[in-house]
Amino acid sequence: MDIDDLMQPLPIPDEQSLAHSERCAVFLREAMAEGSLSFAQFMNACLYTPGLGYYAAGSRKFGAGGDFVTAPEISPVFSRVLARQVAAVLEQLEKPDVLEFGAGSGAMAAEVFGRLKAMGEAPEHYLILEVSPDLRERQQRRIAERLPSDVDRFRWIDEIPGSFNGVILANEVLDALPVERFEIRDGVVFQQRVTTDGDRFVLTTAPAPSVLTEAVSRIESDLGTTLPEGFTSEICTAAFDWTASLVNGLREGAIFLFDYGVGRDAYYAPDRDGGWLRCHFRHHAHSNPLVYPGIQDITAWVDFSLVAEAAVTAGAEIGGYVTQAHFLMAGGLDAELELMQDAPLDKQLELASAVKTLTLPGEMGEHVKCLGLVKGNVRTPDALTMMDITHTL
Ligand SMILES: C[S@@+](CC[C@H](N)C(=O)[O-])C[C@H]1O[C@@H](n2cnc3c(N)ncnc32)[C@H](O)[C@@H]1O
Repeated sequence: MDIDDLMQPLPIPDEQSLAHSERCAVFLREAMAEGSLSFAQFMNACLYTPGLGYYAAGSRKFGAGGDFVTAPEISPVFSRVLARQVAAVLEQLEKPDVLEFGAGSGAMAAEVFGRLKAMGEAPEHYLILEVSPDLRERQQRRIAERLPSDVDRFRWIDEIPGSFNGVILANEVLDALPVERFEIRDGVVFQQRVTTDGDRFVLTTAPAPSVLTEAVSRIESDLGTTLPEGFTSEICTAAFDWTASLVNGLREGAIFLFDYGVGRDAYYAPDRDGGWLRCHFRHHAHSNPLVYPGIQDITAWVDFSLVAEAAVTAGAEIGGYVTQAHFLMAGGLDAELELMQDAPLDKQLELASAVKTLTLPGEMGEHVKCLGLVKGNVRTPDALTMMDITHTL
């Protein structure tokens, strides 16, 4: 999901997609009739408006025929290594379950559960909390096809359980949470907002509400410097609240959060003026969130320092913060590859290419990190121990 294709013109959507996008645009224009929306409100509406938003309506999204690929879609080997780490936590707990957030196509859920079962570590329940009704249906179909005899073990839930024992998983969920965008002008924080100019959407600014000004001040005091004049970036207060709610809901166990992201120093470095927003349409990554509402994905890389701070404040410990490549290498990639060595040659070649995509530095292997959190009396899983870069948070 990190293909920098910013100079390429975007593909033209088919008629059906364009009609869908126009319905979403009409909804947004109506929502702006009284004025403008904050960038976070706009992003939230583009992604999650029931029946219209990118994640709340029926477009393909994942894989070769969609807009982007994620690690579990690239190869089952990602989920199989993850399952080993999940198993290592589950075996330390009494009656643990697994809870996955934002399960997308259901690929990771099916593979993690299947691998856990093969290891004799299948949890009683595999819970999924998915905000998109369309994706929830897709996940249910996939589980029914892949694991027909285990369908009853899967539960789709609407709220974070009050007291959960086990392992929580989320791959590329944090980067799908709505972000605020801000800019510094004359030393003052301004909020970016979206309004209309005829039928088009355009950015505008307004003095930031106090909650945003205070959030930017906290970043500056943490960095020990003021952000430079004209600096523009994002902040995801929703990520703070979401992480805190996960940790609050976890009684004992571990949380694995995978996403494109960096620590705060890198996130707000002067050379990152312009921020970390990325839009995805038919495998073209670009930086214009104002086009194709409802049919393109809008994401922002994650400030993992903010996520770690939320987790620790809510009572978790940081088990480790590692690149995806190091997670896979320390987590049992070799052993999983050995299990697949009798596969036909074409499958082996496919696998070799997938492993490259998952682990190459300068791409997913390095850009995607795993923040592992533990709560209670749980040993740190192996995958979090190689080249731990928690000090960069
Ligand atoms: C980029 S997709 C990743 C899907 C999948 N995890 C994968 O790796 O292929 C983001 C997913 O998060 C879901 N999502 C977004 N916000 C969420 C939230 N607050 N709680 C649970 N799921 C959420 C979306 O509907 C979607 O399934």
